[in-house]
Amino acid sequence: MIHSRSTETLKELDKNHLLHPATSIAQQQSDGPRIIGSGKGIRLRDTDGHELIDAIAGLWCVNVGYGREELADSMADAARTLGYYHSFSGMSNPPQIELAAALSAMAPGKLSRVFFGSSGSDANDTLMKIAWHYFALKGQPQKRKIISRMNAYHGTSISTASLTGLPAFHKAFHLPIDGVLHTDCPHFYRYGEPGEGERDYAKRMAAKLEAMILAEGPETVAGFIAEPIMGAGGVIAPPHGYFQEIQAVLKRHNVLMIADEVICGYGRLGEAFGSDVFGIEPDLMATAKGLTSDYFPLSAAFITDEIWDVLKQGSETYGSFYHGYTYSGHPVGAATALANLDIISRERLIENAAKVGAYLHQELQKLCEAHPNIGEVRGRGLLAGVQLIADKEKKTFFDPACKIPARIAEACYRKGLIVRPLPSVTTLAFSPPLIVTEADIDEILGRFEAGLNEILPS
Ligand SMILES: Cc1ncc(COP(=O)(O)O)c(C=O)c1O
Repeated sequence: MIHSRSTETLKELDKNHLLHPATSIAQQQSDGPRIIGSGKGIRLRDTDGHELIDAIAGLWCVNVGYGREELADSMADAARTLGYYHSFSGMSNPPQIELAAALSAMAPGKLSRVFFGSSGSDANDTLMKIAWHYFALKGQPQKRKIISRMNAYHGTSISTASLTGLPAFHKAFHLPIDGVLHTDCPHFYRYGEPGEGERDYAKRMAAKLEAMILAEGPETVAGFIAEPIMGAGGVIAPPHGYFQEIQAVLKRHNVLMIADEVICGYGRLGEAFGSDVFGIEPDLMATAKGLTSDYFPLSAAFITDEIWDVLKQGSETYGSFYHGYTYSGHPVGAATALANLDIISRERLIENAAKVGAYLHQELQKLCEAHPNIGEVRGRGLLAGVQLIADKEKKTFFDPACKIPARIAEACYRKGLIVRPLPSVTTLAFSPPLIVTEADIDEILGRFEAGLNEILPS
């Protein structure tokens, strides 16, 4: 029925009836939407007939690529067998049990228990509540503050928009809420001081975090949340030794480490989790996106046995663990995740992310050296950020108001490529599906260079 309507009619209906996420309403009303009709592999087709390479995999999530028959089949089979049943009051279903066991086996460090939701935001929100509950059960109910970082992105619910360190997500809503603080963004290229090495910079970041914890009172700080590599805030990878320095501070003050692996998890960086790459030992960990390659909305929030044991004691005081969603442990979502993880393992997509990711970074580095307006290339595996800069010698950054990343992304779209503009840091992001090949990367970068040179000629 939907496909029988003309594109023009669909655009009008969209303009008349939809409130889009993270979209200027004025722009939606003047330009109308772009409507994506279908996808196969790394390619999409919009309803105007343009073929596009999706170099960002939706929103950093369609890791096995579009149009995977096995995922469609497993979803259909699961829906036929058990379209839904809830997980409240001890109810369960076979797919979520299988998935929880599989995830516990692959999760980093001591993480061993899984709570299912349906978005990255709800996973982080769940973990924040668990951190509060954990310390309250240990007799420290005042230990509730969560420290995040400037430029972090952790979601858009009230708690997670607060954790997000991008002012644009706070401004209209009078956020952040009390009890959420932001320490420095660890962007060495931008904030490193002259003569300062990466390791010294990492030590300085850790010292600033410790000063914040001491100023607030360690007895009031429950957790520190971080993406292994920041995504929406600029694809900012940690400086050498950063998480080791940070974790030493957290241990000293009994503050929980919360890893937000919503983008990095399930292979994007060339290892199963970003925590494996950077030596993070999370007490709590949020995942979503790549868990099902977003064929179904599903999140998995992980905790350690130690936290679980404390929560278990809560049964005496509180009865139930009073948290959960109608969609928690959805059997169709869990079956989709199992099929998705099977594809990732069988097709060795994590190894592919490491190999083709290294090629992507090598080729972007060449472009960086050749182009006067690329200051640095950041990231790892199949996650890359290209920092645009007004003057490379003087390290003068573009004013974010110039909208250059959006103009380049627009030029790329016209050339058949989707890249993601990150305006707050004038960066363009790449995060293609993990099935991408070196030949695909050549095609992506050919289209990117053409779009880049249209706006910033080399
Ligand atoms: C690192 C990170 N955490 C959390 C989220 C929020 O996920 P969702 O949009 O599914 O709520 C995102 C979304 O992009 C993310 O990138």
